[in-house]
Amino acid sequence: RIPEPCALVIFGVTGDLSRKKLIPAVYDLANRGLLPPGFVVLGFARRDWGDGDFEELARKSAQQHARTPWRDEVWSRLVGNIKFVGGSFDDDVAFDHLAETLDELRATHGIPGNAAFYLSIPPPAFPMVLKQLERTGMANNNVSGGWRRVVVEKPFGNDLESAKALNDLVDDVFTGHDVFRIDHYLGKETVQNILALRFANSLFEPVWNSHYVDSVQITMAEDVGIGSRAGFYDTAGAARDVLQNHLLQLLALTAMEEPTSFDSEEIRTEKLKVLRAITLPEDLESHAIRGQYVQGWVAGQRADGYHQEENVPQDSTTETYAAVQLNIKNRRWAGVPFHLRTGKRMPRRVTEIAVLFKKAPHLPFDAADVEMLGNNQLVIRVQPDEGLMLKFGSKVPGTAMELRDIAMDFQYGEAFTESSPEAYERLVLDVLIGDKTLFPDAAEVEASWRVIDPLEEFWAGTKPHTYRAGEWGPRAADEMLARTGRQWRRA
Ligand code: BG6
Repeated sequence: RIPEPCALVIFGVTGDLSRKKLIPAVYDLANRGLLPPGFVVLGFARRDWGDGDFEELARKSAQQHARTPWRDEVWSRLVGNIKFVGGSFDDDVAFDHLAETLDELRATHGIPGNAAFYLSIPPPAFPMVLKQLERTGMANNNVSGGWRRVVVEKPFGNDLESAKALNDLVDDVFTGHDVFRIDHYLGKETVQNILALRFANSLFEPVWNSHYVDSVQITMAEDVGIGSRAGFYDTAGAARDVLQNHLLQLLALTAMEEPTSFDSEEIRTEKLKVLRAITLPEDLESHAIRGQYVQGWVAGQRADGYHQEENVPQDSTTETYAAVQLNIKNRRWAGVPFHLRTGKRMPRRVTEIAVLFKKAPHLPFDAADVEMLGNNQLVIRVQPDEGLMLKFGSKVPGTAMELRDIAMDFQYGEAFTESSPEAYERLVLDVLIGDKTLFPDAAEVEASWRVIDPLEEFWAGTKPHTYRAGEWGPRAADEMLARTGRQWRRA
């Protein structure tokens, strides 16, 4: 589908997210012919810039970060549709100018008032920008004559209370229907495939429950450190940064019931039920482990410890690693632990969901012949090397009845000639089309904070365990699983 003629207004257009993801996504959409003929990307930032300066920034961003190949003809079509308005967020004149610019697009580009406002700005600036959008009437569908939508980037607050306040604030200015909260993991092809895998096949769903599943492991490991993001990261930590959103969304998709249709409301209803059914183990001491990296080596390169990163306070107790056990209080998942872990400066970048099945109740083989057999596993590899792996036991060729685990692999790159859109490309398109299927709603965000708040409370005032950069987290996280005879999958 192609959106109606519309404008995409990006606040904070000179920032990292905009340069690395949003502008390249616009270019990729143009390249794939998915933008309407009447389309304008309107940048807003505190710069004394003209349209030409923004064009230059946009061209560089697209050339460096777009997923699709560079094509001059695509760019020359797009370049007439790039506009810039400069000003700070408390500058009424600048916002009046922005409103006029949007109005003019009716005549100049045939855009009948449709606009999406992307808040790619630090959360403290949200109230001010929202107030300006309200004051100028820009947030109002009736005033503009077209649709008006707002896109909010994470972090969605810092805890339940601040998330509620943020939700109230946004809902005051826009109607709930027009608010799009971005969790870019939901835009990833492999993440969308979780529901296809589960509900389009007859093979998996019958065993997708506590009768057959021993446990589920969800891993999001990154080899990078925190880069230049200390300002944000040190106040957040791994649990607020990615556990509250990306990992809990992965869990919800893995554990939810079948929706009555593929309608966005139905899917969100099912996800919400799972998020609300999550409980934390009583003994958090042994089931909620956080860690912080110290100096080490990642892929042969020496890596500084967290305390040596730029702008990190020397006494910071912020976690860069978190591993928790969550339980889901419903019939399908009773007694099945969900082990979630995430960390920076891990040995490599990998995100995966591993469903570990129970061992066969009886093995009619000699004990020595099955020593090499583990649990059957279905692994959804979210990234990199997107695909699916099924691990099961097989007879080793030869005269003896010896068994060993083998893997059956499906890789996107091999199975499909179609290329996957980048997550932001997909999500920006959905905003412009008005499809909310891949966007968590306010209730999901709040339900997720209800899981994280008690963890943060438990961790407050404690020191994280340490792990060396390039290791798979602190030893305490291994012990957490070892206590029940389990271990982390070697991702
Ligand atoms: C972001 C987090 O949401 O996701 C970052 O704030 C993290 O800390 C990033 O690095 C990872 O995204 P991806 O798509 O590279 O896995």
